[in-house]
Amino acid sequence: MTSPPIEIDARDLPPLGMPPEQFLRDYWQKRPLLIRNAFPGFESPIQPEDLAGLACEDGVLARIVQHDRASDGWKVSHGPFPEEMFPGMPHQDWTLLVQDVDKWDADIAALLPHFSFLPRWRIDDVMVSFAAPGGSVGAHIDQYDVFLLQAHGHRRWQIDARPNPPLGYRPDVELRLLQQFDPSHDWVLGPGDMLYLPPGVPHHGVAEDACLTFSVGMRAPSAAELVGDWVDAMIAEADDGLRYNDADLQLPQDPHEIDAAAMDRVVEALNMLRMRDPDRLGDWFGRFITLYRVGAEAAPGDDPRSRIEIEWDLQQGGTLQRHPWTRMAWRRAAGGDDARLYVAGDDHPLPAADASSIAAEPTVDGDLYASLSEPARDLLIDLLAQGHYRLVMPGDDDDE
Ligand code: SIN
Ligand code: CO
Repeated sequence: MTSPPIEIDARDLPPLGMPPEQFLRDYWQKRPLLIRNAFPGFESPIQPEDLAGLACEDGVLARIVQHDRASDGWKVSHGPFPEEMFPGMPHQDWTLLVQDVDKWDADIAALLPHFSFLPRWRIDDVMVSFAAPGGSVGAHIDQYDVFLLQAHGHRRWQIDARPNPPLGYRPDVELRLLQQFDPSHDWVLGPGDMLYLPPGVPHHGVAEDACLTFSVGMRAPSAAELVGDWVDAMIAEADDGLRYNDADLQLPQDPHEIDAAAMDRVVEALNMLRMRDPDRLGDWFGRFITLYRVGAEAAPGDDPRSRIEIEWDLQQGGTLQRHPWTRMAWRRAAGGDDARLYVAGDDHPLPAADASSIAAEPTVDGDLYASLSEPARDLLIDLLAQGHYRLVMPGDDDDE
């Protein structure tokens, strides 16, 4: 059987050029795909100056990577950067990278619904990079899947799509750069073109001209992270009375031996703690995944309003806008049609229809609010008080 093509034009079926089911079956986590015209006629909603401005703010994760061609040396500096630095930057060979731009810029966040062929909780952030001509972060691999959308200008991407590429790192640089990189494919991407890479594919992107690239990156907890958090949750919930027991103890042949019966009891003691209840396990995972790799917490505002005032404002065109760092996901409970909404590490029981619409809508308007059940409205009022939403009236500055 021939393998699926590595390149496709998506003009007639953006953003993947194929039904999402086919992408998931043939490419997702399996092989790279260059998608020409993933976003036909794409115009960047953000300008290089906006990105530079963001990189000067406290709390924003920003880096500048500079390459010295003569020595093949690399220098990385971390933000926030002073504003006066940017006009003096060289004309070539540097890149500014800003993480989590979807949290700071609503137009960037608005790209994410195009990726709803993936569970939302699998998506980490949109990183935006600006590169001067020749700018690059070197040849490397990433641990997570990424969609590299060319937003402005042109970038030349080289990748090594062969199985088992060499993965040794250069010992002499702070960045995790590959010692050896032998590309099998070489493309120049223009605005609207997108490169999908599963984890572990060596890649190297060099700006052909001044360019902006958006990286829609995934999150995938490692097995060790999952086990660590799960064990912590089990310990926190454990009944201290549950312990190793041996009411069936037989006279030991050798009192110093740990015999097979003792090991069976050890396994039994561990099993007593295991979350065999699917709802307990689901609740733990929902709490875990809505906190995993979250960079900032919502905090209560200093102007608490009464519920009556809030509901009045919602009727007058006000909206509840979810805090950009508040992650949500929901899960159907194993027993019946009740569900849980997970919000930034907490679980809340709700009817499935409410959990689904609250998780899906970053903005709750008066109509949506009125359509929800009483427990769901109670929850929204609580979440507003905790800072997971803010109330915005028509005419308020959305960008503040
Ligand atoms: C970039 O945008 O310059 C780097 C993105 C990547 O290679 O992961
Ligand atoms: Co990369």
